[in-house]
This record gives sequence, structure tokens and C-alpha cells, in this order.
Amino acid sequence: ASNAMWGGRFAAGPDAIMEAINASIGYDQRLYAQDIRGSRAHAAMLAAQGIISDKDAQAIGEGLITVLSEIEAGDFPFSTALEDIHMNVEARLKDLIGEPAGRLHTARSRNDQVATDFRLWVREQCDAAITSLDALIRVAVTRAEEGADWVMPGFTHLQTAQPVTFGHHMMAYVEMFARDKSRFEDARKRMNECPLGAAALAGTGFNIDRHATAASLGFDRPMANSLDAVSDRDFALEFLSASTICAVHLSRLAEELVIWSSAQFRFVSMSDKWSTGSSIMPQKRNPDAAELIRAKIGRILGASVALFTVMKGLPLAYSKDMQEDKEQVFDAADNLMLALAAMAGMIGDLTVHQANLEAAASAGFSTATDLADWLVREAGLPFRDAHHVTGSLVAMAEDAGCDLPDLTLEQMQSVNPAITKDVFGVLGVHNSVASRMSYGGTAPEQVRAQVARWKEILG
Ligand code: ARG
Repeated sequence: ASNAMWGGRFAAGPDAIMEAINASIGYDQRLYAQDIRGSRAHAAMLAAQGIISDKDAQAIGEGLITVLSEIEAGDFPFSTALEDIHMNVEARLKDLIGEPAGRLHTARSRNDQVATDFRLWVREQCDAAITSLDALIRVAVTRAEEGADWVMPGFTHLQTAQPVTFGHHMMAYVEMFARDKSRFEDARKRMNECPLGAAALAGTGFNIDRHATAASLGFDRPMANSLDAVSDRDFALEFLSASTICAVHLSRLAEELVIWSSAQFRFVSMSDKWSTGSSIMPQKRNPDAAELIRAKIGRILGASVALFTVMKGLPLAYSKDMQEDKEQVFDAADNLMLALAAMAGMIGDLTVHQANLEAAASAGFSTATDLADWLVREAGLPFRDAHHVTGSLVAMAEDAGCDLPDLTLEQMQSVNPAITKDVFGVLGVHNSVASRMSYGGTAPEQVRAQVARWKEILG
């Protein structure tokens, strides 16, 4: 039998494989709440404009509420033959209320319907990402405040570079996550225009009120071009792009947690809640959650690449290719939210081994730059010469198997006679970080100022 929704010009039904490749109900049923919300707004507008009767609109509105509760109760008979969520809802509405159900699709197409539903869904996900990022930022700020004085090695090339504080390191991620948050806020603003009423592609001859439906669905305004409204998915691409960048940040922090929790580093311990054991090695405590967060970028970036590739080269307006947008965005959103929640939990529960951080900070000649800077400041050497002198002192300490502050004044003076005992004042790691008072530097005072700034922003 031909399709009940569009089968008028068809004699036969689709091949089973055609039905399988065509149907999206297996996943777009996730849009049921948005679909029903959009339909209710549309029906109310049609009645207000005198396009359908108030009586029909009321029957439609009540019927849709019944459909909603059926789906939420989990006893809705989703049908593959009915392709997607839009036709499944409408067909059920017809079972429930009969003839008036057929009036709902007046001045509307599935093209503007799906664009509206999906925008509503992605908009909610932006809100969810903003909320989750906010929670993560708060946890990181709290940990940063606590560790504002805890000295640890700062790395470049993962080689010890200069001492920093744990608080400073945490606040670096606060900055990154805050930018991520602002990307979702920004994307949300841009996507908050309503496609409904664009109909199939050209608009409609019915006297509809697009401003009314836009307002009732919480959009700032209707989209201004009907072709654009049904054919673009840049809002989904923007959500995926923001998600991808955020996932990169999560992945980097996750990688640091994996390294830091290793027996070789021992900077941190993950709590039991965020660790797993090994079925063969009894001593193991594995940072699985961190590893999985590190991996999520793979599928989130994968979703971005997939949808960008689907969209490129599509002629206006709607093409069925665009049905491929949903699974990618669903998967990316689900995994991003999970990763954000796991990261916030893990950071909150992290045990930081302050003494190990400090011991590691002192190793690896991490205050060599401080020594070179002292030679510039106190002995008047050009920086390049100071760099060279310091390099010789590092080599001397390395040969002697000691750290820079362990060299005697005589040993130092044998390399450069201008060195005095005051040099020892800059060699300790605490002196080093305390001196980095430039704006945004790692000095505890600067870190605390940034913590205070963020606390005020976060309220
Ligand atoms: N399930 C479709 C999608 O997700 C709905 C739009 C169908 N439009 C059409 N002209 N066949 O894209």
C-alpha cells in the first residue's frame, strides 16, 4: 500500500530496503517534545489567523498533549513505515482526533518543521553545555584558589621549564572553558531565529503570522529568508564546532591527569569514584574516566567532519542528505555532556600531592631562567651572555649530580666572578614563582587576583 501521508500519486509501497534507508524514526524520535511543541504553536497560530477553526485547533492541541504523554509513558507505537517523528506524531493524532488532524499541516512542510524541531533541540543543548561548563569552571576555580601557592613544574615540550603554581595551571583551564562557554552562548544567540512558516521552501500563500509562532517558541524572530530557513544547518555546525573545541580542551586536561596520576609523576591521585582496577594486576588503579574523556574528541570531531561533509556542495533548498544531521549532533552532544560532567566530578575529587609537586618543581634546573634574569638585573650582563653563563652552571651542577642552589658560591664565581651570595635568593622555586608578578603571571598574588576576578564574574 502507498504511504498514507504522501502516497496519492503512488500505486505501490516502497521496497523494504528503501524503507530502511529512508526512515529516521529510529533516532529522530528524540525530537518528539520539540515536534509537538512546534505543532501546537503552529495550530494555535493557524486558528488565530482564521485559517483553521478554533474548534479544530483545540482538538489538535489536546490530541497532541495526549500523544506527548503516550510517548513519555513509553507506549507509543513508533512505525518505520511512517518514516520520521513528524509523520508518526501526525498519524497518531489522526487516530486520536480524526479529520481535524489533517488540517495541522496547512501552510507547513516537514522541511520547516524539522528545521524548527532541530533548532529547538540544539538550542537546549547549548543551554546544557553552558550549565555544565559553568559547573566545571566553578570547580576549577575552587581548586585553583586552594592551590594558589602550591609550586609545581611548568613544562614546555613536557620537559621541566619553569616553576608555576597548581592554581595557575587550573586557572589556565578556567580561561579555556570560559571561552568554550562563550562560544555556546554566542552560537545560541545566532541560532535563535525560527524557520517555521518557510514551508517547503518558498513560503506560503496562507496568511500566517510567523512572528507569533517565533515568539511562542522562544525565538527572537522568524528567519528572514524561506530558502535559507529550510536549507541551512549552520546552527548544528556551529554547535559541533564549539563542542569540538571544548572537547580538545577536555582532552588536554584529561591527558594531564593521566600523566600526573602515574607512578612516575605522583602529582595527583584520582578518587575511587573515578578510577577502575585491573582484573589481572591487583595493584592497578586506572584513570579510565580521564582516558575516555581524552578519547571523546575522536567522535565529536568525527561528527563535525561528517556533517560538514554532508552539507558541502548541497544545492538549495532541502535535500534528504540533511536527515543525516541528527545522529551526528545527538552523539556529539551526549558525549560532550558526559565528558563535562565526568571532568567536573574528577577535578572536584582529585587529591593533589603538594609535596610531590614541589619536589618535582625543584628538579630539572627549573630556576635556571631566574638565575639568568638575576645576572641581567644585578650583574648587568646582556641576556644572551647571562643565558650562556647559566648554561655553564647547569652543566656544572649536572656533572656534580646536584641542583643549582646546591652549587657553592666559589663554584659559581669560577664561571662568572660577578655572582654574589644574593643569587641564592632567586634560586628557590618559591622565590621564582613569587617574582613572576607580571599581569597574568604565576605569582600566587596574581593567581589570587584572577581567582577573585572569576569569583566575581561567576557570582
Ligand atoms: N526526516 C526528515 C529529515 O530529517 C524530515 C524532512 C523530510 N522532508 C522531505 N522533504 N522529505 O530531514
